[in-house]
Amino acid sequence: MKIISSLSKKDLSGKKVLARVDFNVPIRNGKVVESMRIDEALPTIKFLLKNGAQVILVSHLGGDGQSSLRPVAKYLAGLKFKIKFIDDLESIAKTKEPLVLFENIRRLAGEQENDSALAKKLTDLADLYVNEAFSVCHRQHASVVGVPKFLPSYAGLRLAKEIAELKKIDKPVSPLAIILGGAKFKTKFPLLKKFLPKVEVMCVGGALANTLIKARGQEVGVSLIDEITPEIKKLAHDKKIILPIDFVVVGRQKSELVVKKVDELSAKDKIVDLGPRTAKLFGEKISDAKTILWNGPLGLVEEGFIHGTIAMARSLPKGTFSVLGGGDSVEALRQAKLLKKPSFVSTGGGAMLEFLVTGSLPGIKALS
Ligand code: ADP
Ligand code: 3PG
Ligand code: MG
Repeated sequence: MKIISSLSKKDLSGKKVLARVDFNVPIRNGKVVESMRIDEALPTIKFLLKNGAQVILVSHLGGDGQSSLRPVAKYLAGLKFKIKFIDDLESIAKTKEPLVLFENIRRLAGEQENDSALAKKLTDLADLYVNEAFSVCHRQHASVVGVPKFLPSYAGLRLAKEIAELKKIDKPVSPLAIILGGAKFKTKFPLLKKFLPKVEVMCVGGALANTLIKARGQEVGVSLIDEITPEIKKLAHDKKIILPIDFVVVGRQKSELVVKKVDELSAKDKIVDLGPRTAKLFGEKISDAKTILWNGPLGLVEEGFIHGTIAMARSLPKGTFSVLGGGDSVEALRQAKLLKKPSFVSTGGGAMLEFLVTGSLPGIKALS
């Protein structure tokens, strides 16, 4: 895999570069409300512009292609980038503007199907291809895996950094600890299976913990749980998995918040966060780790139950290499102003999990 830092002015000046970025960021009332993915792509964009390339930015926004990337163009203009927003490929081919943002690529038929006719059309717009979209590298889409088949292709600076940092988890300085939260086992199972033999401890919170506790035959009331499969029943008794010992629960009245030990839970309770004893226990369990991986919030963060997640972030030991990834986890720590706590915050959610499990991703493989 070649990285754009190996390119000089001689290679880039006067060249058209199609850069696949992931500007799939939260937008509210026409404004970008969280900009990490855009900001992390800026060094690559600046590098290409400084070396005289014309940069054509291509991204998706949302799953279905309905939303517009215009607010992202406004955000970049607000950062003093002279940027032209274009919504048809014909105008892109004609423009001489140094920096162009193309409208949501998922509006074009064939993007998600990796149609080679669309890949060819995109290829015709440029001399070089750059992938600066780690978080979408798990998708076999035309702008991710199709175009690099036909053009000289390079990894952006941030993509290269993601790969280098996440590789450290595969060959960790031991002891390795993993913190897992969130709701659905399906997305986390491959990671769990691969890393359980490698970890010293795995602290599990969120609705995943509810599921494991239920699988042990204990009461979790009306808390969110996932399907209990035979594999999950086995996991529930694994000695390396540390489960919460107390929770914040809401009773029938939403205003009524109480802390309960696991064996005090009743049929009416709904678990919304870790309890204080668990926050302390998890902190102690990871205190000797030399490498930590964290994915998934430990409570119902979007309803404000963020204390367990905050306590976990605060317990990340100094001097330990720690990685956090996952859209909801990153958003929770951003809100709590604790994003500086982990050593590395991945821009990827699904992409990070898949990279950690398989050691690469379709979009990365397509670059070599
Ligand atoms: P990430 O995006 O960081 O990978 P996930 O998408 O796996 O995380 O999980 C996030 C979701 O898990 C959030 O919607 C959060 O509310 C939910 N969650 C965590 N703990 C609980 C809980 N106790 N009850 C219900 N939902 C929970
Ligand atoms: C993400 O937000 O995880 C990436 O932008 C990929 O988006 P997708 O899940 O819609 O493919
Ligand atoms: Mg999520």
